[in-house]
Amino acid sequence: MSTQDRVRRITVPDLRRRKGGEPIVCLTAYTAPMAACLDPHVDLLLVGDSLGMVIYGFENTLPVTLDMMIAHGAAVRRGSTRACLVVDLPFGSYQESPGQAYRSAARVMQETGCSAVKAEGGREMAETVRFLTERGIPVMGHVGLTPQSVNRFGGYGARGRVPDQAEAIIADAIAVAEAGAFAIVIEGTVEPLARAITAKVPVPTIGIGASPACDGQILVTEDMIGLFKTFTPKFVRQYADMGGTVGTAASAYAADVRARRFPGIEHVFPDRKAI
Ligand code: KIV
Repeated sequence: MSTQDRVRRITVPDLRRRKGGEPIVCLTAYTAPMAACLDPHVDLLLVGDSLGMVIYGFENTLPVTLDMMIAHGAAVRRGSTRACLVVDLPFGSYQESPGQAYRSAARVMQETGCSAVKAEGGREMAETVRFLTERGIPVMGHVGLTPQSVNRFGGYGARGRVPDQAEAIIADAIAVAEAGAFAIVIEGTVEPLARAITAKVPVPTIGIGASPACDGQILVTEDMIGLFKTFTPKFVRQYADMGGTVGTAASAYAADVRARRFPGIEHVFPDRKAI
């Protein structure tokens, strides 16, 4: 491929300018081949810490480490050329202090080549968001249902049903935007709350179980293609049944092996000299 043919990667400022414009299309990716499939169709690929559940089979995202995020982030970077690449900071790698967050985020950026990191949290995380953005690390915020706080919330129920909670989430989004986040994921809130936040903050909001009014949408790809069946949230629309397709293929392969229909002669290497 010549330098001229090379596609320019979508940048953080490109996405920041999309506030109120054409919806920003985002999906998660954890591996190079999946990134290659998704890359032509999306504006942003998120290497989410949801990989803990989707890839590693953990019960929640808390056991995910920085090394896991870096390994998968680098793989997704190798598999993509166009989408803006954002990597999640995992639980325990940034909450302690802005300095800890900077060291973790700098490692993620150096070792994956991503354009930004995502950090869960609201007002309590504003100082950290400012610290990172002022030092050259773009940050995507994440408010509402923040899965790393599952033990505080006691589950994954929708947030913002009571007025105090809704006010707190609005204050979280405003604080993170004012601290310099270039975009904010709003996850698992009642619809009018996500709509209100989108109208209030000057940066793009990316909804997941939030509102069609958000400036963009994201889903976990394995939910969207029907490959992760442990739990499918209400807000997922399944566009394929890859779990079913894989099962059908495995069953046909098993039947062929048992009946000695596979491998065929076209799948083996004849050694004419030895015959
Ligand atoms: O970890 C993740 O995949 C996420 C998205 C669901 C927004 O945070």
